[in-house]
Amino acid sequence: AHVVTENCIKCRYTDCVEVCPVDCFHEGANFLVIDPNECIDCGVCRAQCPVGAIYPAEDVPAAQYAFVAVNATLAQSWPSITRSQKPPVDAARWAGVHGKIALLES
Ligand code: SF4
Ligand code: F3S
Repeated sequence: AHVVTENCIKCRYTDCVEVCPVDCFHEGANFLVIDPNECIDCGVCRAQCPVGAIYPAEDVPAAQYAFVAVNATLAQSWPSITRSQKPPVDAARWAGVHGKIALLES
């Protein structure tokens, strides 16, 4: 499955959700996750993310590996999202900031 990683937190552009053929994105307050039980690994969402937050599971950087379990767990309780939304007004300021996992609102 594909995995949403740290750079999505507080950026949350939501461009990714519109292209998913199986609607497997789920939304939290400041982050999105992919349900690994539904994702068919088509890969089309990767190119849509302006901050490069989405990776195939096998390519998730070592420092981001916790997000594999974060996606699997939160996808079970967060609601589905299939239409893009306006990003946070300060989204650009958070792009590439490290340590955002501490800011994840679950
Ligand atoms: Fe959806 Fe394809 Fe991305 Fe998986 S890889 S989340 S199926 S768009
Ligand atoms: Fe997040 Fe990128 Fe989608 S910032 S909401 S993974 S477009």
